[in-house]
Amino acid sequence: MIGVFDSGVGGLTVLKALRAELPDEDLLYLGDTARLPYGTKSPETVVAYAMQATAALLRHNIKALVIACNTATAHALPALVAAYPQLPVIGVIGPGAQVAAQYKKILVLATEGTVRSGAYTRAIHALHPAAQVEAIPAGLLVAMAEEGWTSGAEVEAVIARYLKGATEGLEALVLGCTHFPLLSDSIRKVIGADVILVDSAQTTAKAVAKSLTSLKLLGGTGSMRLLATDGRERFAKVAAQFLGQSVAPEAVELVNL
Ligand code: DGL
Repeated sequence: MIGVFDSGVGGLTVLKALRAELPDEDLLYLGDTARLPYGTKSPETVVAYAMQATAALLRHNIKALVIACNTATAHALPALVAAYPQLPVIGVIGPGAQVAAQYKKILVLATEGTVRSGAYTRAIHALHPAAQVEAIPAGLLVAMAEEGWTSGAEVEAVIARYLKGATEGLEALVLGCTHFPLLSDSIRKVIGADVILVDSAQTTAKAVAKSLTSLKLLGGTGSMRLLATDGRERFAKVAAQFLGQSVAPEAVELVNL
């Protein structure tokens, strides 16, 4: 079983990509909906939450962990790797940075916590030192994605306000929060057709497949289980929308971390 966690529903974009990339794997997803958002919390709090989420997933004997949240990856990846040296741990920032680093002028749209951590800028500069990277905190987009507000004039107006003055000569825009792919059609309308949109879901799924293949850890029955810390009905509704399949509220297991 592969354990996947996010602060809420955003990581379901990564779960969907994992399901497509690794159809035979057993997937266990945990959305910490009771404590969302992570993006405005201190690094210490996010590390503590990530540790608790991982401990809950480990009770189900996961063989690998995917941190499907940029904020948790930015703050907690090193702590998780140090705490569980035997467990393969894959975050979403490295794979997205690798794609973005092919371009020169890059904008990262992320949570306040991810922007403050400087994680994307560091990861991109490590691969492309001359790249011009600007990171913009766009926390309101997390709430809009959770709320199901993904299109329409109001949504585009909020995106346009966040991006004001930052799109001149832009080559790539990184969706540096796993909630943001939900808004990608609206983001695309605001930035136009020529800018590359980097969504790390697919690249992360490929990185997981590569890691499990090299560790000879592949194999399962293709099952999927969904856990959440609050709001089963709402979680099921958004999950169905994200995954493109029906999800009954009873199928979402509530857990305490
Ligand atoms: N989905 C999370 C991320 O990728 C953050 C949303 C939140 O603020 O909790 O950063």
